[in-house]
Amino acid sequence: MPDTHPPTTPPAIRPVAAVRLIVGFLGKRPGWTALSIGLLLLNIGIELSLPQFLGSTITALGTPSTQQSLGTMVGVFVGLVVLRAVVGLVLGPIRNRTAQTTLGDIRAAVYDSLQRRSFAWHDNARTGELISRAGTDVGRLQDLLFVCLLFGVDVAVGLIGTLSLIFVTSTRLGLMTLVALVPTVATMAWFAAQLQPRWRRVHERHGAMSTVIQENIAGVRVVKAFARESAEITKFRARRAEFLKELAEAVNYWAARVPFAQFLFGLAVPLTLWMGGSEVLDGSISLGDLAKVLVYQMALGGRIGVIGQITNILQNSSSAAQRVSELLDDPAPQHPHRSTGRISTVEGSIVFDAVDFRYSSEPSLRVLDESKPPTEKRPATATPSRTQALESASFSVAAGARVAVVGPTGSGKSTLLALIARFYEPAQGRILLDGTDLRDWDRDTLRRNIGMVFQETFLFSATLAENIALGRPTASRDEIEAAARAARADGFIRELADGYDTVIGERGISLSGGQRQRIAIARALLIQPRIVLLDDATSAVDPTTEQEIREAMRELCNGRTTFLVAHRAATIRSADQILVLQEGRLVAQGQHESLLSDCPLYQELFANREADNPADDNPVH
Ligand SMILES: Nc1ncnc2c1ncn2[C@@H]1O[C@H](COP(=O)(O)OP(=O)(O)OP(=O)(O)O)[C@@H](O)[C@H]1O
Ligand SMILES: [Mg+2]
Repeated sequence: MPDTHPPTTPPAIRPVAAVRLIVGFLGKRPGWTALSIGLLLLNIGIELSLPQFLGSTITALGTPSTQQSLGTMVGVFVGLVVLRAVVGLVLGPIRNRTAQTTLGDIRAAVYDSLQRRSFAWHDNARTGELISRAGTDVGRLQDLLFVCLLFGVDVAVGLIGTLSLIFVTSTRLGLMTLVALVPTVATMAWFAAQLQPRWRRVHERHGAMSTVIQENIAGVRVVKAFARESAEITKFRARRAEFLKELAEAVNYWAARVPFAQFLFGLAVPLTLWMGGSEVLDGSISLGDLAKVLVYQMALGGRIGVIGQITNILQNSSSAAQRVSELLDDPAPQHPHRSTGRISTVEGSIVFDAVDFRYSSEPSLRVLDESKPPTEKRPATATPSRTQALESASFSVAAGARVAVVGPTGSGKSTLLALIARFYEPAQGRILLDGTDLRDWDRDTLRRNIGMVFQETFLFSATLAENIALGRPTASRDEIEAAARAARADGFIRELADGYDTVIGERGISLSGGQRQRIAIARALLIQPRIVLLDDATSAVDPTTEQEIREAMRELCNGRTTFLVAHRAATIRSADQILVLQEGRLVAQGQHESLLSDCPLYQELFANREADNPADDNPVH
């Protein structure tokens, strides 16, 4: 297994874009967000009013006439402290709820976006990368949410409020606080800038470590087959050590800098005591006012710690936000699938009119380059390299005809089928279904009328019945069983302990290639399609299974327009029409006899089939 470290270039970090993403989603839950912020503001209000009472009480102590109201003052103070505790108690769950619902919204949006993407997009995206973005990165946004929802508001309002109240009390002390605050915040910003590359290195190492895990899980058979276990374990340990080293460096760097900033600002308190003390002595401010300012300053010192935390979290999770934003960017499809809701009847005639198609090799997810401004993140000038998969293909197939598609490996057989299913758009030319361009058909009508059996069958972690009913979840159990019987899958399903209720993937339940293919045929049969696309990959199964699969296919093709990527001589020979592909070009088409006399490639292909399978003379029909 190749060593893929490092897997990606470190992504650029743009905290503003990250905050915009979160705020955008919070805006979709205005009620909860407003409630959280309202309670938070109330909390800050109470907090700011406490030193006011404290100061007034201390000042009042110097005036004998108000000394008797000391009890009332203390009572009010206690009341405020209790109120703050109550608000804090209510705020916690509400804030969590807001954060969790918003995070849920983001997850749903990411999932929707992934489902809406085209085949071409998914072809060029790495599964591991998608899973990491949709899972880990969305999870990391939780910290950002709290930053936006709690710390951000708290710091902004608290800082401005506290500073203003100091200024109101004494302009000189206000100015002095500002003089201490500006260099402290500037130092923090400088430290934060130093922290940024450290966090990027942490993410990079985390990616490298995750890649080793992903590849080892996905490729466990290869690892074992080539006795690579020890080497892979060593590789993982090395990646983990690198990750932990970077993580410790980032965390320690920050942990050592925040106290330094707090210390810088802490010097403001003795200065205030000195300057404010002389103001009290010469009578320009009261003792209570000095106490007020000192308490406010100490509160500011606490907030500086919070600024540190915010910066740290922003640096850490805004790269995650950026990676998630890229998933959410919704590029408009070139020719969107329309869903008119109008179900039309499909006859099943297919015409290819000079169809050209290439697979794009442009990566779906770009790793952003920090050195470029955001507008350049999608370079329009770069021409992606492309593979010509189908070139000027023209043919016409009548409704109900059975078409065999033959050609060497990589010649474009599966591609041709994928174009009929409208998984991809032709680059040039048109594909007509019943005389109408595929692009003008309603999406649901198309999906309901095209049954597909792919080269590989994917089964979901659900019961076999649910897997069969994938295209028609409302199907009754009788219908599902009838489809399975027609697909010759009923027999082996009943032999399983839980029959149709057997859950795939549970307790080691898995199916063989031939069994999977029959499940796929049952799936296609259940939707009663007008067109069947069959990418046959069962050239190597035992004779009994082959016989069963052939019978299943016969059921599926019966009376429907069928495109069959065929390998068996008998199947090819009995087709109504045969398309011969070579390197993306349709080199010949027609029926068996004429191709055998006119097409050298067909002769060659067919000679091989006959040699492989000399006894194979059972036609599909
Ligand atoms: N998703 C894809 N992205 C990029 N190129 C692709 C993709 N799928 C196929 N190709 C390329 O397109 C060409 C045709 O591939 P296709 O899968 O249609 O061949 P095939 O005739 O079905 O081969 P096989 O008999 O092996 O299944 C090949 O060169 C292949 O490498
Ligand atoms: Mg293929």
